[in-house]
Amino acid sequence: MRETTPGERRVSLVPDTVGRLAKSGNEIIVERGAGQASSFPDRTYTDAGATIGDPWSADLVAKVAKPTDDELGRLREGTILIAFLQPLTNHALVRELARRRVTALSMDAIPRITRAQPMDALSSQATVAGYKAVLLAATALPKFFPMLTTAAGTIAPAKVFVIGAGVAGLQAIATARRLGAVVEAFDTRPVVKEQVQSLGAKFLEVDLGETGEGTGGYAKELSEEAHRKEVELLAKAVKDNDIVITTAAIPGRPAPKLITADMVRSMKPGSVIVDLAAETGGNTELTKPGEIIDVDGVRIDGTTNLPSTMPYHASQMYSRNIASLLALMLTKEGKLNLDMNDDVIKGTVITKDGEVVHEQTKKAVGEKVPA
Ligand code: NAI
Repeated sequence: MRETTPGERRVSLVPDTVGRLAKSGNEIIVERGAGQASSFPDRTYTDAGATIGDPWSADLVAKVAKPTDDELGRLREGTILIAFLQPLTNHALVRELARRRVTALSMDAIPRITRAQPMDALSSQATVAGYKAVLLAATALPKFFPMLTTAAGTIAPAKVFVIGAGVAGLQAIATARRLGAVVEAFDTRPVVKEQVQSLGAKFLEVDLGETGEGTGGYAKELSEEAHRKEVELLAKAVKDNDIVITTAAIPGRPAPKLITADMVRSMKPGSVIVDLAAETGGNTELTKPGEIIDVDGVRIDGTTNLPSTMPYHASQMYSRNIASLLALMLTKEGKLNLDMNDDVIKGTVITKDGEVVHEQTKKAVGEKVPA
């Protein structure tokens, strides 16, 4: 399927995955040019056993971005759709998928349990985003990352501060360390301290009077008092660092505002903030989602969909996530079979047989949708 969302360069299935699926007897139809933007030409798909044609006629449609209105119109009753649907916020889309009796699975709903790790597309794409964020910052910074001892004098290493040490944050820390920066990090979940330290970064110890540890390994929103304390305590670290990478997010909620305009203005000219939470509003008060702005010499990069800027590997990882999910959905004979008693399937299927079946989505969208 060729992605039609502006700026989306990833593809849902790469030739390697297509080859495996074709070998086990499935018929794979690939839209012309589907992998072009991610450096997988049509020929690599046909070599892998796919046919170039109209993918909307298939029993199962695998996509990256949610379907556009036009694409929705091409989905047939009973088709299985796999994509990033963000069902908790895209209510109209969810209702329409149910109305059209599409069986929709959302890759951002994969339960975060050990067994489902190979399918965890949020993690795979966050890995890409965390890595790329550091590269963007390194390119924009008017300084070296590593410490250098040269005949022209000694160069001090760049200082990087990472806020939020989840999947993207940890990858950002690892990447910045590899480039030779001095890195510190903070997260409201104290359990990540050891992971941060094992990557060679310093964990900023701040006592907020509570932790942000929520359920399922996720963060929960802090109380107003703890949030105020956090912002206060982050101020010094933000001022002292050359680069700030923010990744703080609460599932289904707007990103917490952690960096105020004053904090941005306290940074040295030439400093760079990359706000990975831009998509959900940003961790910086001044972030403009999708834009790069300059505030008194400080660059705030609010580029969204960073995984799409590294489409080859982002697609490869996403494609493997989908293949792992498909392994749960295909019988030995190659028939599609959704076992709604399987926790992973149950947690991922959003609409089925004309209804919204996903518990959380049901609450968000508001009860039953008429068939
Ligand atoms: P995320 O993208 O929802 O959040 C990013 C980070 O921001 C989190 O570490 C969170 O604690 C932090 N954060 C939230 N509010 C903050 C604040 N006010 N200040 C500072 N930091 C704040 O999370 P992500 O990266 O998707 O995953 C978080 C965790 O989920 C992982 O570290 C892991 O423990 C767990 N996980 C489990 C998986 C599995 O078992 N299959 C797969 C992926 C993640």
